[in-house]
Amino acid sequence: MSEIRKIGVVGAGAMGTGIALVAAQSGYDVLLRDIEQGRLDSSLRNMDQILQRSVAKGRLTDEDRRATLARVETTTDLDGFAGVDFVIEAIFEDPEAKRAIFRELDRICRPEVILASNTSSISITDLGAATSRPSRVCGMHFFNPVPVMKLVEVIRGYSTSSETVATARAVAEAMGKTVVEVKKDSPGFIVNRILMPLLIEAVRVVEEGIASPEDVDKAVKLGLNHPMGPLELIDFTGIDVCHNVMQYFWQEFNQPQYAPPQLLRTLVRAGRLGRKTGKGFYDYE
Ligand code: CAA
Repeated sequence: MSEIRKIGVVGAGAMGTGIALVAAQSGYDVLLRDIEQGRLDSSLRNMDQILQRSVAKGRLTDEDRRATLARVETTTDLDGFAGVDFVIEAIFEDPEAKRAIFRELDRICRPEVILASNTSSISITDLGAATSRPSRVCGMHFFNPVPVMKLVEVIRGYSTSSETVATARAVAEAMGKTVVEVKKDSPGFIVNRILMPLLIEAVRVVEEGIASPEDVDKAVKLGLNHPMGPLELIDFTGIDVCHNVMQYFWQEFNQPQYAPPQLLRTLVRAGRLGRKTGKGFYDYE
């Protein structure tokens, strides 16, 4: 395994920002790319806010905060990825957009560089097939909020080599994460495969008038000891994101039990996408 010093992160949304921050905190140099300069600026502001909080709590020196931020370079194009040693892609969950990025990364990155995707459900085999290096393509699925959540699912696509899995595991562990290996590429891997049916049933309980969103969340938090109720979690993750994952499961498994509940579709159509729009199952404004 050649040494990994610089990690390229594609996409500066909530996941890309968290991944870039944790990588920089772990001593990696980071090149963060987004097509919108505004998103890169707000990503850097978010990273600084999180670091400032640690400084205020006495867990980090101001010098370390500055040093961490100095390790993050931002860019709106992909040319700089010729100089990175490992890539984590974290753009929005659209298979065609992801394939297009993988094709571009394959053209620009050195041939030995591993291309990992933070996809929560899209096929790693599919993304690998968009490149000339499918043995060096794998999934590396982080959880939101990345600085807090300990888990990374490392996913083996049909052609992923054992060396690639071992390297992705080593990088995730160097970022302080615990790794589980997903041996077969299958929709939703482990966590979302188990989580989505729970979220679907929670929405159905509300839809059928069995209980209010507040009581569904209270029941799951106090009865199952989950840190967040399922409807709070849908709002936190994004109603559109959950809707897309369910839609994908429905298509892939061909089983109606995965069909997104009508209430979820209605909220997407109404633009109530959860916390990020200020409204979802709950109002945040
Ligand atoms: N970034 C960095 N740190 C954060 C943070 C963020 N966005 N949000 C919270 N934290 C930190 C806080 O600073 C605080 O740190 P300290 O204890 O060290 O001071 C700690 O997390 C706890 O935060 P709070 O006290 O503010 O709030 P909380 O106790 O309610 O925790 C939570 C917030 C960590 C988000 C917690 O509610 C939780 O674990 N929720 C469940 C999250 C979850 O299930 N995520 C998976 C989503 S599904 C997914 O990601 C898969 C997918 O593909 C769809």
